[in-house]
Amino acid sequence: MMLATVVSVRMCRMYIPYGLLASGIIYLLSAFYTIDSSTFSTMFARRPFRSQHGVSGNLTGTTCLGTTNSTQNQTTCFPSCEHGYFALPGMSACRPWLDCDEISQIRITGYLKKGGMKHVLMGRWENQTIAYLRFQTTFKNHFSKYLANYLLFQPNPLFARVVGYCEQKCLIVMEYYPLKNSWMLEEALWESNLVHSNSATALRLQLCVDYAQIVAFMHGEGRIMCDTNNLSKLSSQYLLTDDFRLVAADVDHLQEASSPCPVWFAKDWRFVSPETKKMSRKKCTHVVGLQQRACADELKQLQFKADVWKMPDVCLLYLSRNPETNEIMDARSERVAGYLDTLHGRCKLRDPRKRPDAVEVLSTYLRAQKELFAPE
Ligand SMILES: Nc1ncnc2c1ncn2[C@@H]1O[C@H](COP(=O)(O)OP(=O)(O)O)[C@@H](O)[C@H]1O
Ligand SMILES: [Mg+2]
Repeated sequence: MMLATVVSVRMCRMYIPYGLLASGIIYLLSAFYTIDSSTFSTMFARRPFRSQHGVSGNLTGTTCLGTTNSTQNQTTCFPSCEHGYFALPGMSACRPWLDCDEISQIRITGYLKKGGMKHVLMGRWENQTIAYLRFQTTFKNHFSKYLANYLLFQPNPLFARVVGYCEQKCLIVMEYYPLKNSWMLEEALWESNLVHSNSATALRLQLCVDYAQIVAFMHGEGRIMCDTNNLSKLSSQYLLTDDFRLVAADVDHLQEASSPCPVWFAKDWRFVSPETKKMSRKKCTHVVGLQQRACADELKQLQFKADVWKMPDVCLLYLSRNPETNEIMDARSERVAGYLDTLHGRCKLRDPRKRPDAVEVLSTYLRAQKELFAPE
């Protein structure tokens, strides 16, 4: 526990300069892309349902979740908490992250996924359903690195909520997201009776916006997600919230963009960018000093652009494209896909330098939202 606390404190310290750096980059980009300041505040604003009320102590405000369901229109509010605390829907106060003792009280109720590296289970804690991540003890040496990734950006509406962890037992407890991962979007829409609703197309584009927002945020923090080398894998790392927003969940392989993603994760060579193979072999250890810095920076920019190469596939998946036939299943989404065609074509340019960056992708998605779905 001590070690974990040190990890999280250190992470907190790191977060501040990266955050400032990110804001600086965003500021410069705003000048470059002639995006007005209101667009930028929308791009990185907290999500619409969330409101800040300036409460003291470990509360930082109130989060309200609107249930997007064709039959119900409910809103649940619960406190937003500081780093180290959590609140789940239905809770009226923030609590410190659960520790090993409290985690041992959790009753396991089912399996969500048995993976090679970890098992994802469901459990009950004080009348709440939670997700229980049990990492294989063979990965014990790497666990503190994985844990640090989960804690790094907490709390943040772009990331799945951490409820607690036990470092000795390689356990992490998370909020449970019943709509599961975004690869299962169509099932989730069917089950919520939303698939044919008027709001479905706007909701699909909102997921493109959310995804671009997460990628732009990570790039601003100098990070990339590895283990995203085919569409089903990438989209299964992101979960759907009750109101059909996207959160990054599986951050096991979140890493600094200046070192290459391990090549053994690459599977689908059409889904990954053409330069990926070469990039994965790139090392900056043969050079020193300023040259090493330039080498690492070049690699970082290349990895960002490799993420951008994948963005159209992710967005089109959310717009109902069948990954096998490439057919867009939802007729109303065709208009949105058409609007994004030029941007998506640029993301697929062979020369990574000619591709837009994630911030530009995000700003175009936001423009599409404004032009196609703004109220008359
Ligand atoms: N907090 C959660 N709530 C609901 N389902 C979850 C949660 N975490 C994971 N899952 C489900 O388990 C799957 C595997 O989780 P993930 O963390 O991606 O593990 P893996 O290491 O096997 O990729 C997810 O794609 C999702 O369907
Ligand atoms: Mg995963």
